[in-house]
Amino acid sequence: VNLGWATAEDAQALAEAHALAFDAPWKADEIGEMLASPGVFGFVAREARPLGMILCRAAADELEVLTLAVAPEIRRKGVAKALMAAALGAAREAGATEAFLEVAVDNYPAAALYAGLGFRRAGVRRNYYDRGPAGKTDALVMRLDLNDGSA
Ligand SMILES: CC(C)(COP(=O)(O)OP(=O)(O)OC[C@H]1O[C@@H](n2cnc3c(N)ncnc32)[C@H](O)[C@@H]1OP(=O)(O)O)[C@@H](O)C(=O)NCCC(=O)NCCS
Repeated sequence: VNLGWATAEDAQALAEAHALAFDAPWKADEIGEMLASPGVFGFVAREARPLGMILCRAAADELEVLTLAVAPEIRRKGVAKALMAAALGAAREAGATEAFLEVAVDNYPAAALYAGLGFRRAGVRRNYYDRGPAGKTDALVMRLDLNDGSA
């Protein structure tokens, strides 16, 4: 898997990878607009086609992970971990001191990934995700200190 910095031209590739992992995928033009806004950056993982992506926003000394997606056929091979490492490394280089993200309380794979990278539970946002007929789901807020030497 090739991992590369995402530019505005990669919006379509990011959208393709996102759509492989989410029921309500983000459109390429939405992703393009995000990539054009201040502090937003991402990485894309490709084999013959885009199979993984991450989008983040850096603001002041905080990194927020906006989304992370890996295609089902290449899961549990360390792709998400590599995408997170690239994003956390870029954020550290840019002077960020902490990272945070939201994850649905029932998303065990993602929560396990983040906990393994050193993220710790920092709070709960009630009814954060709207799953339409399936109702609303709480999100855990997870936080990582980027200065403590882990991840
Ligand atoms: C969450 C997601 C990005 C993980 O991608 P991945 O490439 O399979 O993750 P990795 O292979 O890098 O996993 C790294 C570690 O995370 C943990 N992990 C990942 N998936 C897991 C699972 N299904 N069950 C338990 N632990 C898991 C493990 O500790 C794993 O290390 P190991 O394989 O050595 O045990 C992927 O499952 C996905 O795209 N899910 C749907 C979209 C999503 O939920 N995104 C996150 C939204 S917050």
